[in-house]
Amino acid sequence: MILRRLPETLVNQIAAGEVVERPAAAVKELVENAVDAGAARIDVVIHDGGQSLISVTDNGHGMSRAELALAIERHATSKLPDDDLIRVQFLGFRGEALPSIGAVSRLEITSRRDGDDTGWSIKVEGGKVFDPAPAAFNTGTRVEVRDLFYATPARLKFMKSQRAEQGQVTDTIKRLAMAHPDIGFSLSDGARKILDYSPVRGDLFEARLDRLSAIMGRDFAGNALLIEAERDGTKLSGYAGLPTLNRGNAALQFLFVNDRPVNDRMLFGALRGAYRDFLASNRYPLVALFIDTPPDLVDVNVHPAKTEVRFQDQGLIRGLIVGAIKHALASAGHRASTTVSETALGAIRPGELSMHSGQPTGQAPYGTYSAPSHIPSGLRERNHHYHAPLPSLDQTPSADAYRIPESPDTNVTDTDHPLGAARGQLHETYIISQTADGIVIVDQHAAHERLVEERIKNDMAEQGVKRQGLLIPEVVELDENACHRLTARADELAELGLVIEAFGEGAIMVRETPALLGKVDVHGLLNDLADDLADSDEAIALRDRIGDVCATMACHGSVRAGRRLNGDEMNALLREMEATPHSGQCSHGRPTYVELKLSDIEKLFGRR
Ligand SMILES: Nc1ncnc2c1ncn2[C@@H]1O[C@H](COP(=O)(O)OP(=O)(O)OP(=O)(O)O)[C@@H](O)[C@H]1O
Ligand SMILES: [Mg+2]
Repeated sequence: MILRRLPETLVNQIAAGEVVERPAAAVKELVENAVDAGAARIDVVIHDGGQSLISVTDNGHGMSRAELALAIERHATSKLPDDDLIRVQFLGFRGEALPSIGAVSRLEITSRRDGDDTGWSIKVEGGKVFDPAPAAFNTGTRVEVRDLFYATPARLKFMKSQRAEQGQVTDTIKRLAMAHPDIGFSLSDGARKILDYSPVRGDLFEARLDRLSAIMGRDFAGNALLIEAERDGTKLSGYAGLPTLNRGNAALQFLFVNDRPVNDRMLFGALRGAYRDFLASNRYPLVALFIDTPPDLVDVNVHPAKTEVRFQDQGLIRGLIVGAIKHALASAGHRASTTVSETALGAIRPGELSMHSGQPTGQAPYGTYSAPSHIPSGLRERNHHYHAPLPSLDQTPSADAYRIPESPDTNVTDTDHPLGAARGQLHETYIISQTADGIVIVDQHAAHERLVEERIKNDMAEQGVKRQGLLIPEVVELDENACHRLTARADELAELGLVIEAFGEGAIMVRETPALLGKVDVHGLLNDLADDLADSDEAIALRDRIGDVCATMACHGSVRAGRRLNGDEMNALLREMEATPHSGQCSHGRPTYVELKLSDIEKLFGRR
């Protein structure tokens, strides 16, 4: 073995391994350079998913002949003017992107500074640098990357399909475009424009929303809550989608730190925490959040592609995000996303009915809610209980447990309430009410479940959950692991109103249950709670998972579908929903009600 310094080209190829992993990463570096150069327009063209050509043209400040020659050298950068790595002011700072790309492709950069007589062009092929030559060009820079990875064939093998690579490039540009609404962006595949965003002027917040709705669709703009919060000089702003507007993956979660798109685990974790009470764990809300923090409080030099960051005070950032989103969701009250009613209208549009041009709004582009696949399996099996008619309210002992309060409003025909006046109940499951300008359909079980859950949480926060002793303690047989999981948490469960103790091996004795739940199927409840706890780390206090646990409890204590309600009860339920935070969706992110506007219904019948 001979110890030696590696040749420059090899060093650059190694660096390229980290920095330009795939075409989208090269696009990211080049577009970031254009942003850093103060461009007002950035146009990107890719051929074959970026593999045969990536071309990025900007109208930024451009480079002189000497600068061009330096730009493709390793560790040459104009972005650390004071050698200050603590206060990084630009997206780039490593001076590595261009030499890395040049080492693995055929790179050509053409550029002209404002005021220079001519532009210049420089080429690098597989690390071999050619002399700059004069070139006709407008002010700005064009970087063309051909045959990416031709010089490192091993990397070529890891390319995904052109379509997949193009998708990544599109996503990369969208992210950068969101952070910079004042810059116009376009992406084309040579034949067709894939993206085209014109620059948005004016107030930053409004500009961001404009750009966001261009990128994420109008649904997002109409169903997102404004987030604005600040703590100790760190600002959080942006938009958080209503929980009912959710997706099966995190692709529409956009996070930015000082206008830099990041994929940061800590930040994603904070989002999960903020939405935990409102969404199943396999559903993801749509969000676009911008964190603006003094540059010395965040380290951007922790990841070669600069997509992760470290915050000096993680707790502060996490608290800021969780607090601001929870607050916004609470103020949104009973709102459920409008896409819920759009989906509903889409669903009740059978082909043969659309005789007239008055087409109702089509299917919402985003999944609005999913089948509750996450409900613990025990619960799913017992699902049929919900459909079994229960005895009438008066004869049910559990009626006292959750007596729907008398309507404070004696004028029950009043349709001015947001959720209107109840007009009837259908299939012993749905409450139909009339509002000033539409119809509301409430899923009584989902709605009631939400109300009970909020009550349990309130009781917890205030005076502790009231318990009721069982006349005869009930013994529930469960498998040993489940028993262990529950008894290990006995103290915490007692705080929630459920008093249990081990009863030999494979059994648990239940002495008291939360009074709110009324007469409850203890066996089912314990099974579901054990399922809830199955995937939870013992170090996480139940209090932090209170949402899950309350949801399970609430599910067992709610008015089931199939119970007949009288007018007062229905109206009382509506009024309580209006007064209860988060009542627009049940704990699994499904909506508790759907609102159809008269105008939409009129369209449905071709009246408009
Ligand atoms: N589009 C552009 N317009 C003007 N100057 C540019 C452009 N692209 C690159 N440069 C110049 O070339 C230099 C090197 O670019 P390169 O991307 O390799 O490194 P960097 O942006 O400084 O840091 P990083 O490696 O983190 O991206 C930049 O510092 C900048 O001065
Ligand atoms: Mg750069």
